[in-house]
Amino acid sequence: MRIVSGIQPTGNLHLGNYLGAIKQWVAMQDAMGPDDTCLFFLADLHALSQPVVAAELHANTVEMAATLLACGIDPARSILFNQARVPAHTELNWLLSGTARMGWLNRMTQWKDKAGKSGETQSVALFTYPVLQAADVLLYKATHVPVGHDQKQHLELARDIATKFNGDFGVDLFPLPEPLISKAAPRIMSLRDGSVKMSKSDPSDASRINLIDSDDVIAGKLRKAKSDADVLPETVAGLEGRAEALNLVTIYAALAGVKPDAVLAEHAGKGFGAFKPALADLAIATLAPVRDRLTALLGDRPAVAAALAHGAAKATALAAPTLRAAQEAVGL
Ligand code: ADP
Ligand code: NA
Repeated sequence: MRIVSGIQPTGNLHLGNYLGAIKQWVAMQDAMGPDDTCLFFLADLHALSQPVVAAELHANTVEMAATLLACGIDPARSILFNQARVPAHTELNWLLSGTARMGWLNRMTQWKDKAGKSGETQSVALFTYPVLQAADVLLYKATHVPVGHDQKQHLELARDIATKFNGDFGVDLFPLPEPLISKAAPRIMSLRDGSVKMSKSDPSDASRINLIDSDDVIAGKLRKAKSDADVLPETVAGLEGRAEALNLVTIYAALAGVKPDAVLAEHAGKGFGAFKPALADLAIATLAPVRDRLTALLGDRPAVAAALAHGAAKATALAAPTLRAAQEAVGL
């Protein structure tokens, strides 16, 4: 298997990012066999599809890399890099831009959603970035790409581009990447409102646990998290209509690496007065070492930059024969 996955570099990662995305990456890395490779990249080029502040983009890229390292991505086992330092991404992007059709991109629902009525004033990059995404994975002949539901259409597009490129130029260059839909990835909701997801863009800091939060802040946010006055039931079926309660049980389960029903088997009959301190203890036990490593890495940015440079060199070497073959295929 060759797994390729990217994440936009943003600052201030939270528990939702950790449990819903980064922890899944670490699990993939840890499940790798000797013939498998995981490539994880910071999509700093994709960030240019929206207005950016240069200093923030750079800081966010380093911060995100530090966070991934702190969470357990191991640069000795996985290839961790930022897209901008591997120019083959943009080179292959251009070759594939000759293959992708306007109509295919016009049909992307993310483009339609984001562009809305103001498509004329959006960046060209916002329209074409699914082609860059195709280049991101085809460059490494990815066999599997982890995708959330909102990215499934873009992976389909990558497969369409690969098929047309192989067909148009009579080569068998790009394998068709398969989606890797993680059943384990939980969706973590806001601590203040069980109907919206935990997000860095939520104006209320109390709605989320940031990976940089101190033990006291974590405990305080969980103590004040919205819940209800009922006791915990025997199974998750009993949490229907109790979104906040379900969320706290989901968080506990994800942190413990067990199913929500297993959490309930242990805590059924307890009210939140008793459950929340247990959840806080577990959250602190899991997140404190991550935070401490993150703090250390943020104090040693050259070490983070060195890890990224090491990853970029490995990615460049892996990409070179495929890029060369793609150039030859089109006559360059
Ligand atoms: P945010 O919503 O805070 O802006 P991003 O959109 O940058 O987060 O998401 C980065 C990654 O983290 C994505 O893979 C996304 O699916 C995951 N993620 C973000 N928020 C959550 C959440 N609340 N629960 C689970 N996964 C999440
Ligand atoms: Na977001």
